[in-house]
Amino acid sequence: MNKLRLKDIIKTPEVVGIGNSVEVKGWVRSRRGNNFVQFIALNDGSIVTNLQVVADTAKFDEALLKQITTGSCIHVTGKLVESQGKGQTVEVQAETIEVYGSADPEQYPLQKKGHSMEFLREIAHLRPRTNYFGCVLRLRHAMAFAIHKYFNDRGFFYLHTPLITASDAEGAGEMFNVTTFDLNNIPRTEDGQIDYKQDFFGKHTNLTVSGQLEGELGAMALGNIYTFGPTFRAENSNTPRHLAEFWMIEPEMAFYDIKDNMDLAEDFIKYLVQYALDNNMDDLKFLNDMFDKELINRLESVTKVDFVRLGYTEAIDILLQAKKKFEYPVKWGIDLQSEHERYLVENHFKKPVILTDYPKEIKAFYMKQNDDGKTVRAMDVLFPTIGEIIGGSEREADYNKLLNRVHELGMTEEQYWWYFDTRKFGSAPHSGFGLGFERLLLFVTGMTNIRDVIPFPRTPQNAEF
Ligand code: 4AD
Ligand code: MG
Repeated sequence: MNKLRLKDIIKTPEVVGIGNSVEVKGWVRSRRGNNFVQFIALNDGSIVTNLQVVADTAKFDEALLKQITTGSCIHVTGKLVESQGKGQTVEVQAETIEVYGSADPEQYPLQKKGHSMEFLREIAHLRPRTNYFGCVLRLRHAMAFAIHKYFNDRGFFYLHTPLITASDAEGAGEMFNVTTFDLNNIPRTEDGQIDYKQDFFGKHTNLTVSGQLEGELGAMALGNIYTFGPTFRAENSNTPRHLAEFWMIEPEMAFYDIKDNMDLAEDFIKYLVQYALDNNMDDLKFLNDMFDKELINRLESVTKVDFVRLGYTEAIDILLQAKKKFEYPVKWGIDLQSEHERYLVENHFKKPVILTDYPKEIKAFYMKQNDDGKTVRAMDVLFPTIGEIIGGSEREADYNKLLNRVHELGMTEEQYWWYFDTRKFGSAPHSGFGLGFERLLLFVTGMTNIRDVIPFPRTPQNAEF
């Protein structure tokens, strides 16, 4: 099988062989020309650059050429030659052209360049055919691949945690129910409560908000694991940084304390950014030139600087002294808003910041409690333009302390008996974190809305495609 992709021809024409016959297939980005010659810009998704196909009008039926409009799909055989024109080094001199599928210019929505991101979101089924989304989707793939490579190279095991669970890992109650009940006829117990015993799983279940709790079970057996899968949050936040369905990477490591955890998080994210710089420069250049002139600079600088490491209490002091007026007032105990996080990163330190030791009230039940009785060993990694990109912590490994905290929060041990078992049987110090995959992609692509770094975004009131 010899299936050439346009990338092979454009990047390594000498390997394909100038003067050789080639066969190319792809979607037409544009056709222009005159009575004698037509120039077709062809793209097959393998690379942002188009391949120029040159067709002598004398060789082809006028009716056939007319069908070659923007959006149509064609199959061309011809000779690879050095290009006469500017803008490309090689082109294909067409000998045969077959139209696989036409695209009526009256109806095809992607006729011209420069559509707004908002408009493209309405045609999420077609937007992968634009240059922007081609770049974003190739980078998305590269980052997913690099994540697996990073952990595999370091002896971490990929653990598949369930998407359907009966627990709320983050304790925020922002979950989608999973049920097979007929919603018009929900079984009730005698005292009028929903009778989940009659539901598919015999209990109340939901889509997971995080694979962490099960990840911890894995780490207590395999040492170092990571999860990488979709997570679901029914939080009604219509922001450029929140999705209802997003992908998360959650490493969990036995015998790591918070310092080891921070070191891993920093190394991991730098590796991913460097991977994109090393392997996806064409796409990054396109996004840099067309969309965000600081993108490549920002990526390069993150790989070189040491991230600031700072306690929450010190961060609050800095924010209190800031001249900037914040929409949400600052005082010790608040959950930091994106405006606070970005002030620290973009204005004060001008580099990524890892914040630790947050008040226990604003963090999840499983985090290791500090001796002060007020704070927990949490760590959030804050990034320029994004705010929080990673959230993690050292975990509470002490059975009694964990139990007290669970009771304080009005939760019960029974709900999490299997989780408590890890603290009963061979408990160990351990830590982990969660990287939001789409937040990473916002940073790596320079896109400003999280809806534009996932093929089919799920947000409140939006699940069309
Ligand atoms: O800070 P979070 O809620 O942490 C956890 O879920 C932990 N269980 C992780 C762990 O320690 N294993 O979420 C982790 C990251 C955030 O830092 C953010 O990047 C991303 O997930 N995230 C979202 N991304 C997109 N849309 C949302 N609604 C998100 N909520 C969190
Ligand atoms: Mg968080």
